[in-house]
Amino acid sequence: MEVVIAPADQLAVLAAEAIDKLVRATPTAVVGLATGSSPLKVYDELVRRHTEEGLSFAQAKAFMLDEYVGIAEDHPERYRNVIEKEIASRVDFAPGAVQGPDGNAEDLVAACADYERKIVDAGGVDLQILGIGTDGHIAFNEPGSSLASRTRIKTLTAQTREDNARFFGDDLAQVPQHCLTQGLATIMSAKHLVLLASGKGKAEAVHQLVEGPVSAMWPATIMQMHPHATVLVDDAAASRLQLGDYYRQTFLSKPEWQGL
Ligand code: GLP
Repeated sequence: MEVVIAPADQLAVLAAEAIDKLVRATPTAVVGLATGSSPLKVYDELVRRHTEEGLSFAQAKAFMLDEYVGIAEDHPERYRNVIEKEIASRVDFAPGAVQGPDGNAEDLVAACADYERKIVDAGGVDLQILGIGTDGHIAFNEPGSSLASRTRIKTLTAQTREDNARFFGDDLAQVPQHCLTQGLATIMSAKHLVLLASGKGKAEAVHQLVEGPVSAMWPATIMQMHPHATVLVDDAAASRLQLGDYYRQTFLSKPEWQGL
């Protein structure tokens, strides 16, 4: 696991650069997209590279991590709409190339199995962007999630619903109770994981993710078992890391050519 501690703007450029490299080398690459505020600067940088530097997603595919269950199709906070607004509509993905789990399917269990199949049929995710919840969840794999889980329905914790109420006019009652989410094993199947976190509120989750014991109580800790995981954090999110100085030194002395 590589940990990079830098200002948020620089982290976004690093993540965008990794996606840029991947998609230019393999135009048919599969990118894993995340919602939440953490990846927004990455998406802005990808849009800039698309507009100004010819980065194209025309042959690429993308899969989303998760979706609320039972949210109105036209609700601005429906994750499918958020991804459309923040990235998909701003670059040149082909129609249908960006997919997410169907939280409004009549048969949710079948929709989850179908989603897993689609990811496999696309050849798997090459690079997965991730954020982290204050309770250590990735996608919507809340504490207690099986480390071997696949896409399934989950119940959101009170903490996550409170954290996300800001997207629903601070009205907790409007935040859905359930979601469909890629499981931890689904996420672990991606070839490269790139997680971004900023702000003091994420410091404990980041400490656990990087330095805590692997445990379903802090679901992101499963990333310690991934052969290619990158954790991009700002100073505040890194403030509880025991080995912060070591990660800083490692990044400073990293050979230019190595990339993430
Ligand atoms: C939600 C999403 C996660 C995201 C998390 C953190 O729960 N399902 O994918 O990582 O929020 O969001 P933010 O980046 O806004 O802190």
